[in-house]
Amino acid sequence: MRIDIITVLPQLLESPFQHSILKRAIEKGLAEVNLINLRDYSTHKQKSVDDYAFGGGAGMVMGIEPIANCINALKSQRTYDEVIYTSPDGELLNQKMSNHLSTLNNIIILCGHYKGVDERVREHLITKEISIGDYVLSGGELAAAVICDSIIRIIPGAISDETSALTDSFQDNLLAPPVYTRPAEFNGWKVPDVLLSGHTKNIEEWRHEQSLERTKQRRPDILE
Ligand code: ADE
Repeated sequence: MRIDIITVLPQLLESPFQHSILKRAIEKGLAEVNLINLRDYSTHKQKSVDDYAFGGGAGMVMGIEPIANCINALKSQRTYDEVIYTSPDGELLNQKMSNHLSTLNNIIILCGHYKGVDERVREHLITKEISIGDYVLSGGELAAAVICDSIIRIIPGAISDETSALTDSFQDNLLAPPVYTRPAEFNGWKVPDVLLSGHTKNIEEWRHEQSLERTKQRRPDILE
């Protein structure tokens, strides 16, 4: 899949794609991520992309012109399945949405900034608005990184042990069960016997019970 991220802070988004699973997925050609500097599409001398809000009030607004120029230039090269805008007003990101987005071919993510974008961008150029939580970030870049991480890591082949993405919390509407590694005892704190038993069926049953119990206690809202 191809992800084109439109941002005024491309440097802020470099690191998330240069490590671990995302780096490997990109190297394997499973995902291509392009950071596009919105200022390159500004026609102003100072390369500004924002202006005062009509009607007054604090805060600058991202203008429609550079955004339209940028999105139209991208759209002239290929078709996009979604043009996403990161905003606290958007639909809350969840695993189901990430699973769906990871099946798409080409997407654009526009990172919001300042007081937001001219409403006409949202009305005419954006197909989906996504929020990563009920809190306000200083810009949409970190939200874009979260969205990309959650969708790239589940592209088949991105994680070497393919089943491990399927056993993540939320994939079956359950939180993940507790996990342990060596030593089997530390400070008198023991690993549950069943995990040391080698009995695969009992271990699977135990994990499912623990997932269910944890979800009931911590996130009863996600249990169907
Ligand atoms: N931009 C600012 N806050 C945000 C949030 N919570 N989600 C997505 N984009 C944002």
